[in-house]
Amino acid sequence: MKNQIEKIVQDIYLQGWSVVDDFIHEDLRSQLLEEQQDILQHGQFRLAGVGRGDSFQVRPEIRSDKVFWMEPDRLTPLQEKYWILVEDLRVRLNRSCFLGLKSFESHFAMYPIGSFYQRHLDQFKEVSYRIVSVILYLNETWTADDGGALRLFLPSEEGEEKIFDILPQGGRLVVFMSGEIPHEVLTTYRERISITGWLKDR
Ligand code: OGA
Ligand code: MN
Repeated sequence: MKNQIEKIVQDIYLQGWSVVDDFIHEDLRSQLLEEQQDILQHGQFRLAGVGRGDSFQVRPEIRSDKVFWMEPDRLTPLQEKYWILVEDLRVRLNRSCFLGLKSFESHFAMYPIGSFYQRHLDQFKEVSYRIVSVILYLNETWTADDGGALRLFLPSEEGEEKIFDILPQGGRLVVFMSGEIPHEVLTTYRERISITGWLKDR
């Protein structure tokens, strides 16, 4: 854990993105997955949208996942456990990268079979406060045949973009600069479950 956070901080400092495996204990992963499936069964997930406030729209041709926002002052004990880890990450990113991160927002996300999220940045006009994206995958196992990879578009020395695909393997954490790394979620062939969040500068 400690070493993993150090690795993330160093990766962010040097290249703006990072991937670590087994970020949470297997027990916590399976319990969070179970909790998420409970919420799902009780119909509290909503179709995700694009834009914020007045410009919010459900646009299934752009993204077709469903989300359930966590409320910071009403976290369940399991959600709290994850937030404590992210809080540690926040403090250490500030110390080493001077990002001025002040708070965290996050939601459970469920991508039904056949869904995707087209190429985008996580930081744009209405959500300019999103500085660092933090995604934790909850599915038990995942193979390339299941689809649903997170595709990062990275700068390269030749000036062309380099593609880097990450499978949503349970326990894996992906962290990247929200305003710098375009990314997309490729079509998934299995229900794909994660906690997506953003460290914010306000
Ligand atoms: C997002 C997003 C990526 C993923 O919710 O903005 O890009 O791998 N998610 O779930
Ligand atoms: Mn995104």
